[in-house]
Amino acid sequence: MTRFLRASRLCATSPLGRGLLVGMALVLTPAWAVDMVRAQTSPRERISLNADWRFMKYASQEEADDLIYDVRPKVRNYRDDRAADARPTEAVKVAVEQAVLKPWILPAGNDFIKDPARRHVRPEGNPGGEFPHVQEDFNDGSWERVDLPHDWAIEGPFHVGWGEGVGGGMGRLPSPGVGWYRKKLDIPTSDAGKSIFVDVDGAMSYAMVWLNGKLVGGWPYGYASWRVDLTPYVSPGRENLLAIRLDNPPDSSRWYPGGGIYRNVWLVKTDPVHVGQWGTFVTMRDVSEAAATIDLQVTIDNDSQADAAIEASTHVFALNSEGSRTGDAVARFESLKTQIGAGKSARVAGSITLENPRLWGPPPAQIPHRYVAVTALWHQGKLVDRYETRFGIRSLRFDPDSGLHVNGERICIKGVNQHHDLGALGAAFNARAAERQLEMLREMGCNAIRMAHNPPAPELLELTDRMGFLVIDEIFDVWEQKKTPLDFHLLFPDWHEQDLRALVRRDRNHPSVIVWSIGNEVGEQYTGDKGAAVARRLHDIARDEDPTRPTTVAMNWAKPDMPLPEVADVISLNYQGEGIRDAPAYSGLRGIRTPPLYPAFHEALPRKLILSSENAAALSSRGTYLFPVIDGISAPVKDGLGGDPKEQHVSAYELYTADFGSSADKVLGSLDRHPYVAGGFAWSGWDYLGEPTPYYGARSSYFGIIDLAGFKKDRFYLYQAHWRPDLPMVHILPHWTWPDRVGQITPVHVFTSGDEAELFLNGKSLGRKAKGQYEYRLRWDDVTYQPGELKVVAYKKGREWATDVMRTAGEAARLLAKADRSEIAADGRDLSFVTIEIADQDSVLVPRSKNRVRFSIDGPGEIVATDNGDPASFESFQSKERNAFNGLCLAIVRAKPGQFGTITLRAESESVEEAMVSIRSEAAR
Ligand code: GAL
Repeated sequence: MTRFLRASRLCATSPLGRGLLVGMALVLTPAWAVDMVRAQTSPRERISLNADWRFMKYASQEEADDLIYDVRPKVRNYRDDRAADARPTEAVKVAVEQAVLKPWILPAGNDFIKDPARRHVRPEGNPGGEFPHVQEDFNDGSWERVDLPHDWAIEGPFHVGWGEGVGGGMGRLPSPGVGWYRKKLDIPTSDAGKSIFVDVDGAMSYAMVWLNGKLVGGWPYGYASWRVDLTPYVSPGRENLLAIRLDNPPDSSRWYPGGGIYRNVWLVKTDPVHVGQWGTFVTMRDVSEAAATIDLQVTIDNDSQADAAIEASTHVFALNSEGSRTGDAVARFESLKTQIGAGKSARVAGSITLENPRLWGPPPAQIPHRYVAVTALWHQGKLVDRYETRFGIRSLRFDPDSGLHVNGERICIKGVNQHHDLGALGAAFNARAAERQLEMLREMGCNAIRMAHNPPAPELLELTDRMGFLVIDEIFDVWEQKKTPLDFHLLFPDWHEQDLRALVRRDRNHPSVIVWSIGNEVGEQYTGDKGAAVARRLHDIARDEDPTRPTTVAMNWAKPDMPLPEVADVISLNYQGEGIRDAPAYSGLRGIRTPPLYPAFHEALPRKLILSSENAAALSSRGTYLFPVIDGISAPVKDGLGGDPKEQHVSAYELYTADFGSSADKVLGSLDRHPYVAGGFAWSGWDYLGEPTPYYGARSSYFGIIDLAGFKKDRFYLYQAHWRPDLPMVHILPHWTWPDRVGQITPVHVFTSGDEAELFLNGKSLGRKAKGQYEYRLRWDDVTYQPGELKVVAYKKGREWATDVMRTAGEAARLLAKADRSEIAADGRDLSFVTIEIADQDSVLVPRSKNRVRFSIDGPGEIVATDNGDPASFESFQSKERNAFNGLCLAIVRAKPGQFGTITLRAESESVEEAMVSIRSEAAR
């Protein structure tokens, strides 16, 4: 039980960028104030602006208007870097007569530029003010009606083939282009005198905002969360017109970025005196189960015309596992008084010591307990703001010799990399879809996520906090050196500071975030001291914003004797740790070749913790098994050996990798051989849209441990066997329905958390095998296929531990339907993911079936999207019909907002028995 604070201490405040602190005094909160804080409602409102927008996108770049952020290099012909028949891209700087709005956009980032001399002054004028789309009386009746989050590209169509158009790298979906969003805001008269902001959690990309025809500001980086201040432009007492223009460049990403306003948008109203944007910072010291010292800083903005004498008080409450407040305050920061000049900001700070804190820590050994600090601001006896800061109390220790310690427990990082898209739902953020991703990763034993390679949706960090995942929060894939012609390198000089400071300020109170990653495989690895200087600047910015967490930069090339690795606090190695192209199967391939580099880095930089920020890059198509199978444990995909270029599929024996990659078996062995390494992050947890290595004719990746639809590949069980040694499990591959292989050698591999296993074919033992040191699978490579039953019995320490059976399937006879959740909230967001299996009469999965399945729905629900996890499928995600891929397909169902009752999803397919599943749509809890 947490008890009340033992001591409380008031700390100094400091002047902030927006002006000097005028004066300050420290007093205790009067008792009346504590009571009043409960009784009064704060003027702060945070209203979802997701509903009811009008949207249009120009049919082509040529047709788009000229209201550009900046002139950019002209790119002719999309190029897929890794495509076999790639055509070169020409990047030519062309003179254009367009309105360059950058000078009006840059000031939006001023709060994130430390040096006042470098802040931007808004020029005179109102560019775009005459443009029809920003006019209040413009008739947008012909525009599409959309709700946010909205991904303008996910409905396709897919661009199939080579040449002009979006290639495989960016997912073959039409994310590039210029689009507009418009929304009417009803601002009541009572809002006069308030500060009014729009907070955008993410808009892809180059956002520019007008209110009532006035250019307000914007933010170009598509993954950033940002705010613009509407206050000077707002007209209370009537409808106001908000217009947002986005411009998503072609050839700007190595994966599918999505397009549009793809995260949540909020209207925030406050008293002119209020807690600043992301204005609180909770840190902790001397953390133990007995006590922890909590330091709180609060930045207060005074946007009014007069100086203000402000009193700030903060109470701390415990949260339950759902994130709801429980009971009375467990602690209280003493009140602080400060005087803030008109138009200025001030920071107040305080400390408490909490006895017996309930610590935040990763399961299974720990529980991710959380707290909320509720800060109240008082002005002339009136409550002017109440602001909540969720946080967790935990200690982190990064030990170069023994790895990561959370609250004293050595935690081996069992991590995966995740891109931001949600498969068939595209980039449009959906909390349930993200939660499902994390739940499945957790089931596998995963305890850490690297946000590759950009800021995640804020709600994703709420989930990682709640579920107890450790997070590497990453800001950039690119600095000054480009990877694609129109990527972030165009913005880096003007925006790197604002973007990095904004990320750290936004995410610094999340207990799940343990490391800031300032970059991934940046070109600056190759530019010696010059590159290291860029890294130094970013490192310094991150440490300036948050001195409590280390920085890192993910390196796939830089070596221990180069300047870059010296800069960041933690060494993050991509692929180099376990060695690149060093195994015999990789000889003859072009590209760098390195031995396992963990020892060299550990020796050269003995004071830095090492982790494997990216490893594996293993490839497979779920349920596809190709013969012959290699003898070794890791090999690059080759046509006919692991790869089928015609069907664009990679064998799921889980031994094959990208040219530079290593199988899971090799990676885990390498990590186990180097116990000082803190653990690693597999590339990748889930498949994602884009980057379909090795078949760039496809649409989505083959890297995932889980496919794009959310079906587990065999690799899932390989990791589970290793990461959850206490879970009794054993898994056989391949499936056992091979009418064309009777009498042929068909290797059988087994993943188990046990240490031995015996395999039986039709009741006859094929031998009992034991795992050796650094072995992660048991293999019977000389099994002659006969139909029937393949059974494995696993043993641990000599005792029977788990069994698995594979049976030969008959003809497809029926569909089986299973919903991951049979009750969902009718809030327009909650989802049920329904898996359809093609099965024989005895309900055995027909493993290679591709029956066409038609979905229909009755009741208050709708089918949002369908998929089958096939990276080479170009069927629209909106289609209500879809072929099964290796026996499975998926329908994603949502309840209509506010409509309760039973939703029935029906799946039908020719000549087989249909399946139905019922889902209850209920009031949101
Ligand atoms: C890495 C890169 C990732 C992804 C991966 C697989 O080099 O950091 O973003 O591209 O390779 O191709």
